Amino acid sequence: MTDDVLLVHGGNPLEGEIQIRGAKNLVPKAMVAALLGQGPSRLRNVPDIRDVKVVRGLLQLHGVTVRTGDEDGELILDPSHVESANVADIDAHAGSSRIPILFCGPLLHRLGHAFIPGLGGCDIGGRPVDFHFEVLRQFGATIEKHPQGTYLVATQRLRGTKIELPYPSVGATEQVLLTAVLAEGVTELRNAAIEPEIVDLICVLQKMGAIISLGTDRTILVTGVDELDGYTHRALPDRLEAASWACAALATKGDIYVRGAEQIPMMTFLNTFRKVGGAYEIDDEGIRFWHPGGELKAIALETDVHPGFQTDWQQPLVVALTQATGLSIVHETVYESRLGFTGALNQMGAHIQLYSECLGGTPCRFGARNFMHSAVVSGPSKLVGGELVIPDLRGGFSYLIAALAAEGTSTVHGIDLINRGYENFMDKLRDLGAHIELPAAAEVAEVQLTA
Ligand code: EPU
Repeated sequence: MTDDVLLVHGGNPLEGEIQIRGAKNLVPKAMVAALLGQGPSRLRNVPDIRDVKVVRGLLQLHGVTVRTGDEDGELILDPSHVESANVADIDAHAGSSRIPILFCGPLLHRLGHAFIPGLGGCDIGGRPVDFHFEVLRQFGATIEKHPQGTYLVATQRLRGTKIELPYPSVGATEQVLLTAVLAEGVTELRNAAIEPEIVDLICVLQKMGAIISLGTDRTILVTGVDELDGYTHRALPDRLEAASWACAALATKGDIYVRGAEQIPMMTFLNTFRKVGGAYEIDDEGIRFWHPGGELKAIALETDVHPGFQTDWQQPLVVALTQATGLSIVHETVYESRLGFTGALNQMGAHIQLYSECLGGTPCRFGARNFMHSAVVSGPSKLVGGELVIPDLRGGFSYLIAALAAEGTSTVHGIDLINRGYENFMDKLRDLGAHIELPAAAEVAEVQLTA
């Protein structure tokens, strides 16, 4: 048996119920925030995903005790004995995730220095971290880049500052928050990202004793305090995973109840889902998404920062759009290379043409730079099973959706990547009636040779 390849026998609707837990894009950051406290923190609703394991390992290397609590999905993080970690040990985490960059501020506050390994994360664009280092410099840190990673030093307490981000970056906003809370004086951040996961991180920090106010115009004001305590927090649910399952229901003509999904952080997605022709019903426990029969409708879609249509929803929705009647137009404005995954969909029978022009009205940084960041999806297309190599997390889940919607069998390579952000996805697929199997190693070798 091989763990990294999945055979998907498509053509059946996904039907049933799955449970989602805390957001991948909040939980690891709330774990980093625990470093700032004097006492232990208790984080609930933690999913069993790779990014959580990576951050847990890095925290432990820095002397933080991390153990599971009595409740399922509960972590207790005790930073009472934070200490420097061995660079070689930290370096073993190089390339595993993007979260290590967020250790900078907390480690500078606790230890006066930090070493950050080479970052990982999905290959969906250049993904620079220039904003992060620029804001850390503004707080008073000195930064030295070495081939094996980045060294940061703060010879005195970091100082609050005025920052205007060139783009409302999620990570850079989190960097500012995690640094400003213990910096001396006031920090004013303009053009901040305001994604629900950021607001939840602000809630975590406020519970620890931080003073943070969120303005109406992407401005965040942080008044630094001398000390923070631990927190008890239940992570907000993963709206990105919820939308992935919603798109799986739509593309396979299925019906999925996503227990744990919430309306407010998904409002923009729900509007789009309805425009495409999907149906949903919201109750106190979750959201049911289904294909109501009849034709799906083509739409014009632009991704954007919150409260716009989240870029992470784009890839799964594009698979559903291959089943809509007419021409859908997609303009990706957050990442320059998040449409490359469509080549494999075309090989399965989809009709998706990529363009470097901005096919939409939102000002975008990529139009003049020749990136293929717009798409026209012509549908409906009959998809047939194919040979798929997973390119990135959301693209990977989207390939699973395409394979499930297709006729025949698909061989999906690189499924381990999906474990970075989708908890127990294979069990969930089986619960929804998907016909999937892990092939014997010999079969995979044969498939690869003939691919
Ligand atoms: N950017 C810069 N310089 C920087 C930082 C960002 O130019 O220093 C640019 C990026 O290249 C990109 C844009 O700003 O074009 C937005 O990047 P952002 O910093 O907002 O993204 P991130 O913090 O690296 C998080 C999520 C992503 C999600 C984005 C946007 C995590 C771990 N990752 O990334 O999630 O797409 O925000 O909402 O929180 C995913 O879950 O699959 C995923 C990729």
